[in-house]
Amino acid sequence: MGRLKFGIIGCGLISNWHADAILRIADAELVAATDVSEKSRKAFSEKYNVKVYDTVEELLADNVDVVSICTPSGLHAPLAIQAINAGKHVIIEKPMAITLEQADEIIEAAEKNDVKVSVISQLRFSNAVQRVKRAINENLLGKLVSGDVYMKFYRSQEYYDQSGWRGTWKMDGGGALMNQGIHGIDLLCYLMGPVKYVHGFTRTLVRNIEVEDTASAILEYENGALGVIQGTTSIYPGLPRRIEISGDKGTVILEEDKIVKWCIEGQETPADLVSESSTTRSFSDPAAFGIEGHLLQISDMVDAIKSNRRPMVDQYEGRKPVELILAIYESSRTGKTVKLGK
Ligand SMILES: NC(=O)c1ccc[n+]([C@@H]2O[C@H](COP(=O)([O-])OP(=O)(O)OC[C@H]3O[C@@H](n4cnc5c(N)ncnc54)[C@H](O)[C@@H]3O)[C@@H](O)[C@H]2O)c1
Repeated sequence: MGRLKFGIIGCGLISNWHADAILRIADAELVAATDVSEKSRKAFSEKYNVKVYDTVEELLADNVDVVSICTPSGLHAPLAIQAINAGKHVIIEKPMAITLEQADEIIEAAEKNDVKVSVISQLRFSNAVQRVKRAINENLLGKLVSGDVYMKFYRSQEYYDQSGWRGTWKMDGGGALMNQGIHGIDLLCYLMGPVKYVHGFTRTLVRNIEVEDTASAILEYENGALGVIQGTTSIYPGLPRRIEISGDKGTVILEEDKIVKWCIEGQETPADLVSESSTTRSFSDPAAFGIEGHLLQISDMVDAIKSNRRPMVDQYEGRKPVELILAIYESSRTGKTVKLGK
């Protein structure tokens, strides 16, 4: 197998992270893109010197091996299924889908066509998150007691007004949780393991949008630990995402992509481990983060295809945060605690 040929569907903001990452991967090349907007197609082809097609069908008929789906979230599932049924491996931006039925259709299509799927959750690939994951796997924190994520972000009304799809149920699928908060929720599921029960409250307190701009939820994990999710896009000035994991033998706290506390009973904290603060500012500016996460995740996908193994965040992993977020929405709607899983 030679270099993998990539095509991108949707040439908006996040497509630049995909294109810049693909261009840096030796075993990958960017060959084509498509967008419904002629202006976006033109700008993308000029920036990346790549062939652009008017339609998804034309792009899929080209000799591409992997398709990155970078459209508004409500289109992820139909486009992913179309690409999978054309025999392509797919990388899907988060969220994988905005309903569980859609997520399951992607899973079924990928199994039937025997292709790989990677759902973007670039934060999982950071050294800090991997270090915390190892500590939990090695039982350094002891019996897990609590796992919390605080995502108190800032997005202006202009951010929502600039594009017609943001803040809508149909195309965003939700707000502070389904769009901005899914990264932290995915990390919580990854680090703490499956959630058994959730009770949530979602509200639209400040922004003029259909979906929630603020949410709080309490959780019970299958391992018995309890937890909290807080997400908002409406507080000024926006604070770094904070994940706090504690067990009876230790606590670690992540702030954005850095470990800010590492305290394990009977152990000296390694000097190189704990940072003062993180460098990303995406909690207050949606474009203020580097390409390292996408580079690592797309490299993982290339390697998974070449060596025929599962990508680190495949379709089964991508479904988990969507299931939890939809359960929080259901709990808020019904006033009842929701049990997860089938
Ligand atoms: N991983 C991250 O950190 C991250 C960051 C930002 C956005 N995202 C995700 O990426 C996706 C896109 O977000 P964005 O900020 O780039 O949005 P955007 O509005 O800037 O870009 C979306 C593009 O898709 C195009 N498009 C719409 N319908 C299409 C169709 N049917 N076929 C082809 N192109 C179509 C639009 O014309 C637009 O150019 C969202 O799902 C979002 O959740 C992820």
